[in-house]
Amino acid sequence: MHPVREKVQLSPNVTRLVVEAPRIAEIRQPGQFVIVHLGPGAERIPLTIADGDAVAGTITLVIQSVGKSTADLVALEVGQAIIDIAGPLGRPTELIGSGRAVCVGGGVGTAVVHPIAQGLAARGVAVTSIIGGRSREWVIFEEELRRYGDVVVCTDDGSYGRHGFVTDALRDLLDAGGVDEIYAVGPVPMMRAVSELTRPYGVPTMVSLNAIMVDATGMCGGCRVSVGGKTVYACVEGPEFDAHKVDFRELADRLTTYRSFEQAALERQQQVHVAKMAALAAEAPVGEMGADFMRPPTGLPEASR
Ligand code: NAD
Ligand code: FES
Repeated sequence: MHPVREKVQLSPNVTRLVVEAPRIAEIRQPGQFVIVHLGPGAERIPLTIADGDAVAGTITLVIQSVGKSTADLVALEVGQAIIDIAGPLGRPTELIGSGRAVCVGGGVGTAVVHPIAQGLAARGVAVTSIIGGRSREWVIFEEELRRYGDVVVCTDDGSYGRHGFVTDALRDLLDAGGVDEIYAVGPVPMMRAVSELTRPYGVPTMVSLNAIMVDATGMCGGCRVSVGGKTVYACVEGPEFDAHKVDFRELADRLTTYRSFEQAALERQQQVHVAKMAALAAEAPVGEMGADFMRPPTGLPEASR
């Protein structure tokens, strides 16, 4: 059992959970992930270890609520527990040992570059992080990344930091020169755009692939991706690969495979919730329950209501 110690809403649909997992906290390395199993009947979800505290015996998981399983996970409150967390899994990031690295994080992917920036700084590498969000409220981990070097924040609408995509800021750094390695994590179109941008500059670029995972043991084939014309399994041979060799088109296609099933599961969950609330409202005296039932959920930034 892994009790939740802390819970923080980072952006409209991104939540940080700090959970007890002492053994994993002790041995985890940058780039590794865990498989989280909330309880009986729940889906197994791969999540990168965003941070860890070996002394406190905790790891930090950052979850974007996009479907039923992630919604169930972020519904956990402090004190409630995840039944099973398997890991650390995957190959650790191949960190350079000197020079200058740029860590590029798009949206929730920023949480995944955090341990990479942490590991690089610990080795004495100069780190610049470029992080992006749709607008100010979607920017996460800015303060944490400032502990390890410069941070350039970009927003799509210009509401905070530099106006534009992370690739706009990256182009300026590449033009200035002196970049030895790039680590990029975020949505597939972002990682593909970073890869195309850095290729002509000849700067080595690593990306972390969010392939669909089932068993995370290399047995089921769910996470297969094409890298350098070969089929590889992201769970055991990745999740990080040379961006210039990844077939991003195939990855994007495979990620849409289960979208209709995910949508159906989410809709079923919402119907059950509405039915439960209606049943409760019917039992409770008006004014005691009815008013609360109509109120938007609390704990979320205004714009997401
Ligand atoms: P988003 O769509 O809001 O984009 C975040 C930022 O990425 C943007 O602000 C922009 O700076 C950059 N970006 C997006 N599209 C770009 C493009 N075409 N060119 C250049 N830059 C671009 O991000 P989000 O909603 O937080 O991301 C969610 C996605 O990230 C999901 O699809 C999820 O599966 C994926 N994800 C990937 C990983 C991983 O390990 N690669 C981890 C977590 C989530
Ligand atoms: Fe099954 Fe990787 S998740 S082979």
